[in-house]
Amino acid sequence: MHFSTTFTALLSLTSALAAPIQLTKRSSAAGVLKVQTYDEFNISGGVSGNALAEVAAAFPIDTSDLAGVAASDLAIISSAAQIAEDAEVNAGGFDDAITAAGGTGTTAGTALQNGKIKNKVLKLQTDILRIQIEVAQGNTASQSELAGQQTKLAANVALDKAAAGQTSTAISFSGTD
Ligand SMILES: *[C@@H]1O[C@H](CO)[C@@H](O)[C@H](O)[C@H]1NC(C)=O
Repeated sequence: MHFSTTFTALLSLTSALAAPIQLTKRSSAAGVLKVQTYDEFNISGGVSGNALAEVAAAFPIDTSDLAGVAASDLAIISSAAQIAEDAEVNAGGFDDAITAAGGTGTTAGTALQNGKIKNKVLKLQTDILRIQIEVAQGNTASQSELAGQQTKLAANVALDKAAAGQTSTAISFSGTD
């Protein structure tokens, strides 16, 4: 009887200690981002040269506290990366628009290609943010994806800067982040 009481007490102590342990840190912070359509959050219009800064302005999360990014903001960023990918390769996306404009050798095609590169910067930077937030919040499985995306981002940022000042054409594409 005495033994069993002690055992029961030990059991409840163990579960009381175990309860606060979380495998994944989930931020309960309020989000700073609003759900938007692709046409609202895209950055492909205007001119080339500042794509990375334009992504930062469109997704103004606190990058100094990635562990504290709200779950709702992570969901928006994650979805934005996916829709930007769709806007590149899916029907009605940049690849189709460039083909319809006669390829990248035409004036319209060049401007669309500039918009496509800005869209790649949008896609890759939002995906990198997704990975960095997931890792900071304990999902270390994402870590292996980071270096490859950073290499691709650097290449596309260089292309964006090489075309600095040139007209960049956005496309209208359906989708919400
Ligand atoms: C986003 O796309 C829309 C639709 O093509 C365009 O009108 C707008 O200028 C783009 N926004 C930016 C910031 O590039």
